[in-house]
Amino acid sequence: MKPLSIAHVASEMAPLAKVGGLGDVVSALASEQAARGHRVLVVMPRYRDLQIPKGWKVHDWGATRVPWGMGQEPARFHIAEEEHGHLRALLVEHAGERRFFDRPGFYDDPNTGEGWPDNAERFLFFARAAVEALKGFGETFDIIHAHDQQAAWVPCFVRTHEADEPAFADLATIYTIHNLGYQGIVDPWVLSVAGFSREFFFPQSPFEYWGRVNFMKVGIVFADLVSTVSPTYAREIQSSGEYGCGLEGVLRRRTGDVRGILNGIDDRVWDPATDTHLDAHYDREHLDGKQANRRRLAMACGFPLEPDWPIVGIVSRLVEQKGFDLIEQAERELCDLHARFVVLGVGQPRYQELFRRLAFERPWQWHFATAHDEALAHRIEAGSDLFLMPSRYEPCGLNQLYSLRYGTVPVVRSTGGLADTVREFDPITREGNGFVFAPFEAEDMIMALRRALAVHAEPQLWEALQRNGMSQDFSWRASTDGYDRLYEEALERIAHGRVPTLETVRDSF
Ligand code: ADP
Ligand code: GLC
Repeated sequence: MKPLSIAHVASEMAPLAKVGGLGDVVSALASEQAARGHRVLVVMPRYRDLQIPKGWKVHDWGATRVPWGMGQEPARFHIAEEEHGHLRALLVEHAGERRFFDRPGFYDDPNTGEGWPDNAERFLFFARAAVEALKGFGETFDIIHAHDQQAAWVPCFVRTHEADEPAFADLATIYTIHNLGYQGIVDPWVLSVAGFSREFFFPQSPFEYWGRVNFMKVGIVFADLVSTVSPTYAREIQSSGEYGCGLEGVLRRRTGDVRGILNGIDDRVWDPATDTHLDAHYDREHLDGKQANRRRLAMACGFPLEPDWPIVGIVSRLVEQKGFDLIEQAERELCDLHARFVVLGVGQPRYQELFRRLAFERPWQWHFATAHDEALAHRIEAGSDLFLMPSRYEPCGLNQLYSLRYGTVPVVRSTGGLADTVREFDPITREGNGFVFAPFEAEDMIMALRRALAVHAEPQLWEALQRNGMSQDFSWRASTDGYDRLYEEALERIAHGRVPTLETVRDSF
């Protein structure tokens, strides 16, 4: 494929800003694309809490005024670049009084744990400023690839306000849904801030969603092609309200344009043979190092030496999506298992309280750390025997992939990307890489854990199972092939004159 010029617009990119998988995915995809010879830029907000690691340099890239309703808002930009790597980010700063990004946290106010009340304006500004910057960037882009609700307005602005912009002639827009659980639904006033008059707000219009405005709907409707992060999730979100979260109808209308491309893992960061957060390294031929990690983790958790039960790891945002209600319901049965649990996560107080209480009542069996701790996340992956993900829904999920790579056997609910990547182990044929349950029921989760513990009791079987997972290739190479094809397809459409406009989009919805 000929090298392309690609601009990603996203609200996270590791290691500068990461809340969940989005940050990992944007960074790994951009790196792999650049390594293939594409020219890649990631546009992201310049949060106050941005982490600029050693080996990155940051320089000023000018300022502009961004259209904002009837007026304008000031934006300033910086470029952050890896000195020995491929990542290049354009950081969007809001230079106005309301300091959209110059405040603590990313999406939430750390003092309340709630989303910032002006998130709609913050990310609307981000999207508009990103488009303004790309217009004047001095490079011709082939692809503008927007991610999740925070960047959802980008394809719309490109096809409406900027429809005649020469810098954007011939480019294709892609919109990737990482999680339909966060759509950005707000009152219609936002439309005038985005530069559209009330005449565009009528039932069924691209801008209307049950009397309100839905950022994700705007992204889905205006993008040339839409993707999400696993084939199963791509099907699920069109099949029912449970997964489509109200957008199933909109997605079904675009069914021919929706693709599922499985995420990969960044093996520069997630590889037990080189992981900089571990003292002992290992690979599938030399599993001894895993034992050393296991002992260290048990010690760090304050677990006694005996009984040396298998360790079950959990690293997750503590939100309803991740299925911890099942842990709440099966608390007694879990405590009766001959297993120990290490949980790392930040999120809703009710789940934090649950894990805090379990760790307080049974310190020999439960350990809970509540922080965003990258190093501990790696040590849990390396030191655990099993990894539990009982998600209600999971667009892709990265931790089951990290677990497979680290010889840590995943126990998952079969949904979304978990269903696409984890297969039940069969002790007879020795095929499969983990343990899977389907109904969202505590009993089914416990049974899956029991099956896992039974296999763990047979070291030879267990090693075969670990090696099955460790031999799989979940690197970004396969996923990047998928995006290369997606981009080619979108560019072909544009070459054939299939460029969406406000009119064509309005008529098809
Ligand atoms: P999601 O994006 O829904 O949160 P993913 O499985 O795709 O789920 O990605 C989660 C990512 O965030 C993983 O890299 C995981 O290790 C990381 N993560 C989640 N919580 C924490 C935490 N408290 N500390 C460190 N890393 C975390
Ligand atoms: C989302 C999803 C997760 C996915 C990640 C990256 O936050 O919840 O399943 O892996 O995005 O695409």
